[in-house]
Order: sequence, then structure tokens, then C-alpha cells
Amino acid sequence: MKHYSIASVPGDGIGPEVIGAGVAVLQALAQHSNRFSLDVTGFDYGSDHYRKYGVMMPADALDRLRGFDAIYFGAVGAPDIPDHITLWGLRLAICQGFDQYANVRPTRILQGLRSPLRDCSTADLDWVIVRENSEGEYAGQGGRSHRGHPEEVATEVSIFTRAGVARIMRFAFQLARSRPRKHITVVTKSNAQRHGMVLWDEIASSTAAEYPDVTWDKMLVDAMTVRMVHDPASLDVIVATNLHADILSDLAAALAGSIGIAPTANLNPERTYPSMFEPIHGSAFDITGKGIANPVGAFWTAAQMLEHLGEMDAAARLMNAVEQVTANGPRTRDLGGDATTVQVTNAVIAAIEAGH
Ligand code: NAI
Ligand code: MG
Repeated sequence: MKHYSIASVPGDGIGPEVIGAGVAVLQALAQHSNRFSLDVTGFDYGSDHYRKYGVMMPADALDRLRGFDAIYFGAVGAPDIPDHITLWGLRLAICQGFDQYANVRPTRILQGLRSPLRDCSTADLDWVIVRENSEGEYAGQGGRSHRGHPEEVATEVSIFTRAGVARIMRFAFQLARSRPRKHITVVTKSNAQRHGMVLWDEIASSTAAEYPDVTWDKMLVDAMTVRMVHDPASLDVIVATNLHADILSDLAAALAGSIGIAPTANLNPERTYPSMFEPIHGSAFDITGKGIANPVGAFWTAAQMLEHLGEMDAAARLMNAVEQVTANGPRTRDLGGDATTVQVTNAVIAAIEAGH
């Protein structure tokens, strides 16, 4: 019997609601498997921690998290604290501290759900967005001078390194190779951004030469939004910079039915550090505490976590149970239903138990 130690960081807003649901589902899976057990240790990092101690997490937080097999993360952000403080103080600090450079965001239309696109069938939309997660536009380079004066200046510098671009391209081409269509689209903006994005393009093209079995094409990011809407079936794996993929993956989630279902894996592929799994949505202030948050994004990313741990059967069983529920209900309000988070969670647990 394998044993896994999971750190949970539910964070802010609906984070604790969906992560609580996800932990209940994971424990149900473990109970119905004779292959593994899980213990989950909660960390109360986030905006409450900031209000009490002036920091989102303690200085030794990464040391405390380092020994876990994976991190299960909710969301971060509060209405009364600036977003750059909450995001950099917690989520980005963990992603960058643990070199989780490959952010993997699968998107497809789950059973029973419908795309807002007219005539888009389940087979037409099956993508994985690979987001560069360690540098680019979110490298944190830049600064402000002459604060408050008329001559105030602020810079936000994008960083593209050969090593950083090469490793994400290799990861994305490798992923494309493992999928039936073996196709990848490289998203760029090298017409207007003529340094970093040109290096990005050059490395994409030299990486492509190493993967002759993978077909590839290149799209400017603005045109990419059009292609996602008009020709979703032409896409398979998509690789994009930190900022571009951040934006495109919210669009992808909406095209697949709801932001509430979309998952993310922040991977450190070399496994030097733990990887982190989270739904793609944020703290959703407008529905916090109402018990109506869709937990499906948290469930799907729990399946990604199980895959990362090597528990392929349990991951498949979880997605099966989730899709039985998306197909037959109950569904939360963002998917046109009126169920609560708890009702959906109980239905998924019942489907896991029935499937055993
Ligand atoms: P958001 O994802 O929190 O909410 C956008 C809209 O989607 C809202 O109407 C919300 O109710 C809805 N929504 C989100 N998740 C849902 C779910 N599971 N079920 C049903 N409806 C759902 O994005 P927003 O409003 O831009 O950001 C709110 C806060 O979250 C900000 O502080 C932001 O910085 C933070 N944020 C944090 C992220 C993270 O921790 N990874 C990611 C995105 C935003
Ligand atoms: Mg985002």
C-alpha cells in the first residue's frame, strides 16, 4: 500500500469550500482503493494570515511544504488587500520557489456540458494549454521610481531565457507526442515584441526539429483568440508564455462550459520539489460563503495530482465519477443547475462508491 502526504493550502474566498470538497472526494477514493492512502495536512496561509502577521505565509513556509508529495491549493485574493500582494505573497512565491515551470491546463467539454459555441461538439474541443510558469511577463522584473511625482515611471520587464524557453518547449512537444493527434500550436507575439518573442520562436522551431513526429504551427496571440472560437477542432496542445496562456486559458475554460470546472497543474517535472494542483479560478468574492461554488475544477485538478503521483486508475475513476455527475446532475448554478457544492460533492462520492 502506497502512502502519500499532501499539503493543502485552501487560501481565500471559495478556496476552502472547493478544497474541502476535493479532500472529501480524495479520501473517498483512497478508502475505495486498496492501493494507497492519503494524509492531508492543512496550512492556513492566505489573506487572514496576512491580516494577522503582515505576510501571506511565514518565512519558512517553503521549508515546511518541501517534504510533501504534492500541494493542493485553493485560491488567493481578498477584496481589502491589493491583488499583487496576495498573489506574489503566496501562489507565485510557491510556484517560483519550487520551480514549477510547467503549468498544464487541460480543457475539454465534460459529459453532459455544452460549449457556448454554437455547433461545437465534445470531439471538437480537446486541448491542453501549456503555460510557461517561471519567467516571461511574470518574472517580477521592473520597478517604480519618483513615486507620486509627475515624472513617476514604472517598468514591467519580460524575461525570456534560452534555458527557460527551451525547457517549456521540450515539455510541451513531449506532451504533444503523447497525445493521439500529436499537434502543437506555438503562441507568440513576435511581430510587435521583437526580442524575447523572437527568441521564443527560434527555440520553438529548433525544438520542433527534434520532434519530427509532432506537427506544429505558430499563431499570433490575438489571432489565436479568433481561432479558438472559430476553429477549435484544429487545436490540440497549445504552448504560450506566462501572460498569454493565463488569458487564453480563461477563454478556454469558458468555451468548455465554465471557469468553475477548469484545472491546473503547476509541475516541477524533475520532481526536485513538490508540484502544486489548483482549480484555475480565483477566490470568487461574489459567491464566497454561499455554498454554491462549483467544486469540479478542484476535483479535476485532484485527478491531475493523482496522475502525477502515479495513481492512474484512481485518477480515471475520479474523472469517471465527475462526468457521471456533470452528465446526470446535480449541477451548480454556473452550469445551469441549482445544486450546492455539498450536493455535487456527495453525488461524486456516491458515483465513486457505486463504481467500485
Ligand atoms: P474569479 O475566478 O475569482 O471569478 C470570476 C467569476 O467566475 C466570478 O463571477 C466567480 O463567481 C465565477 N467563478 C469562479 N470560480 C467559480 C466556481 N468554482 N464556481 C462558480 N463560479 C465561479 O476571478 P476574479 O473575480 O478575477 O478574481 C477574484 C480574486 O481572485 C482576485 O483577488 C484575483 O486576484 C484572485 N485570483 C486568484 C487566482 C489564484 O489563486 N490562482 C486566479 C485568479 C484570480
Ligand atoms: Mg488566471
